[in-house]
Amino acid sequence: MQTLWDYRFAQRTQRMTGSVIRELLKFTEEPDVISFAGGMPAPEIFPLVEVEEATRQVLRDAGAQALQYGATEGYRPLREMIARHTARFGLRITPESVLITSGSQQALDLLGKVFINPGDRILVEEPTYLGALQAWNAYGAEYVTVPVDEGGMVTPALEAALRTGPKFIYVLPNFQNPTGVTLQLERRRQLVQLADRYGVPIVEDDPYGQLRFSGEHLPPIVTLDGHGRGHDEPRYRGNVIYLSTFSKILAPGLRLAWVIAPPEVIHRLVQAKQGADLHTATFTQMVAYQVAQGGFLDRHVRHIRRVYKERRDIMLAAMDACFPPGVRWTRPNGGLFLWVTLPEGLDAAVVLKAALELKVAFVPGASFHACGGGANTFRLNFSNATPEKIQEGIARLGRVLSAQVALIDGARPPQPERELVLSR
Ligand SMILES: Cc1ncc(COP(=O)(O)O)c(C=O)c1O
Repeated sequence: MQTLWDYRFAQRTQRMTGSVIRELLKFTEEPDVISFAGGMPAPEIFPLVEVEEATRQVLRDAGAQALQYGATEGYRPLREMIARHTARFGLRITPESVLITSGSQQALDLLGKVFINPGDRILVEEPTYLGALQAWNAYGAEYVTVPVDEGGMVTPALEAALRTGPKFIYVLPNFQNPTGVTLQLERRRQLVQLADRYGVPIVEDDPYGQLRFSGEHLPPIVTLDGHGRGHDEPRYRGNVIYLSTFSKILAPGLRLAWVIAPPEVIHRLVQAKQGADLHTATFTQMVAYQVAQGGFLDRHVRHIRRVYKERRDIMLAAMDACFPPGVRWTRPNGGLFLWVTLPEGLDAAVVLKAALELKVAFVPGASFHACGGGANTFRLNFSNATPEKIQEGIARLGRVLSAQVALIDGARPPQPERELVLSR
């Protein structure tokens, strides 16, 4: 039935799509579904007591100011704290380079709003974070892609993509969403050099960098970009816009994140943000600042790493035991996700349908591909489900995959379920 609104939607609305994950999340709210679909932190480790105490203290100490409108740039002490935090990973910045946003998702949208004209090309990894594609599709972005392998973005393929004149490069260097892979140090350097040579800026999206369970911490691209230019200490050169968030190190419901950008970009982002929400909630900024006092966040991040490392190990062991030959997956050193590749000819959307019948969910990989493809891939989240649920969910998924692989292998009957014995 037609309504008064049908012909009134803007052209950009035609390009908007719902997030596959958000749609799946509706289904996964049913209590007996084991979901590896969302990118959700473990709810058991949210610091409820600390947030409650900080909330009281903010109301006691800041009083009405905590409930008042605030500056678009963000709560000044929080911006100063982020500048100090940034110095810890080797980059000197001032609070003027920091903008607080309502989640990194808002930062991605604001970047789209200030930079992307319809038809502009953005260089993205393949696969990449689907929330960025969703934000930028609305502004008419087009994409040029560079593949990802176990070492992250395949920088040897970068030069050809840069020749197409992208507006900026979007890269997720640590425990990439969706694949879980990390960009090797040598490739980070190569990326900075090539971006410099072609005069193309970089947007570095880093929600997971602090959640490393194994291996050496690698310098962010924004830091490498400031190295070796005649200064002893890396300086912020403004060629890289860096995004990070409190969502995975504190709580996503706070909707708190930050952007590091040069003044001329901050100025435009502030204008765009004023049109969107005036500013990020004063109250939550003050609470997050208060929670972080006394080194709490460092301790909390260490705790998160322990919990997620255990869950990753359990998921990997269960996959080793239950997934049939021919299925491959990544073994991430941190973050929240791993990435599964099915034998050619298997469609993850079809597998999902069968998996949902057994009440287990994941996200098919196609929607992380900006230019199509990836039908035989999917993403698994290991942070949200408890160890017991991970074992049970992977066992169910193993049954589904065995049956599907058997179908394409020429009707070989599904393997009987193997005993799942895991060391913890
Ligand atoms: C790569 C990436 N960027 C941005 C976001 C959005 O994070 P936020 O909760 O800060 O909006 C996510 C969330 O999962 C993400 O994985």
